[in-house]
Amino acid sequence: MAVTDLDLDLVAELRRIAEVVAREAGGLVLGRPDRVEVAATKTSPQDVVTAMDLASENLLARRLAELRPQDGLLGEESGFRAGTSGVTWVVDPIDGTTNYLYGLPSYSVSVAAVTGPAGAAPDPSTWTVLAGCVHAPVDGRTFSAGRGLGATRDGVPLHLAAPPELDLCLVGTGFGYRREVRALQARVLTHVLPRVRDLRRLGSAALDLCAVADGTLDLQFERGLNPWDVAAAWCVLTEAGGVLTGLRGAPAGVIMTVAGDAGRVAELAALLEQAGADDDVPAI
Ligand code: IPD
Ligand code: CA
Repeated sequence: MAVTDLDLDLVAELRRIAEVVAREAGGLVLGRPDRVEVAATKTSPQDVVTAMDLASENLLARRLAELRPQDGLLGEESGFRAGTSGVTWVVDPIDGTTNYLYGLPSYSVSVAAVTGPAGAAPDPSTWTVLAGCVHAPVDGRTFSAGRGLGATRDGVPLHLAAPPELDLCLVGTGFGYRREVRALQARVLTHVLPRVRDLRRLGSAALDLCAVADGTLDLQFERGLNPWDVAAAWCVLTEAGGVLTGLRGAPAGVIMTVAGDAGRVAELAALLEQAGADDDVPAI
């Protein structure tokens, strides 16, 4: 079944559930042991999973199945399971796992409800994000949004402020886990850094995108982001008045996500295009 018309009661309910389960998972994750072990690695030895990533995703999957049994799920650690309602939950049980591993505070739980082509795994090029919540357990910041209902941080409405000129913008970014992607990202930084106020690599893309929504950053760009990194923050940022795009007219996605005020996003995207930020990356 497709969710076609925007049913604001449904959106409000999905937002409420996203907040509830993100806070519950955040409470679990806060019980971080003094010593965190790596449970597994994924795309590279640097791309780690901890036992808490798995426990948090299990909690999210179990609670969402209790509250919305007909919905599908796409989880970073467990993959895609189709539902029958037309709604799929896209969850990142810990966004910022490297920070979590080291005890750095910038990590979050990200929970979003999206709709899109029936039976297919959610994809930023075709999805509509209906609602989302990004919760940072350490300092308690909670961003949430519902499509057509606005975005908030800790209950306070968010509206994107007019940004400064690009050369005075504070820009967030992040790096992939594969060395050949990182080599390209390092080259791109030599084009971007001289043309902005400064760069920040805070370690949770979901929180970075929410920081753009509340003005803590002016812009964010990153190559390699996955649906679970961006889904909930996508709703927060767009409901706050921002945009997310890719390069050369493409939608935001794994090749590139550029986020913020529409005018500055266009300028930064042009800079990234000149820098070849979407060049093919060889498998080394
Ligand atoms: C990562 C974080 C990081 C970003 C990486 C993501 P994870 O997610 O969002 O900020 O730079 O690209 O993979 O692995 O901690 O869930
Ligand atoms: Ca994660």
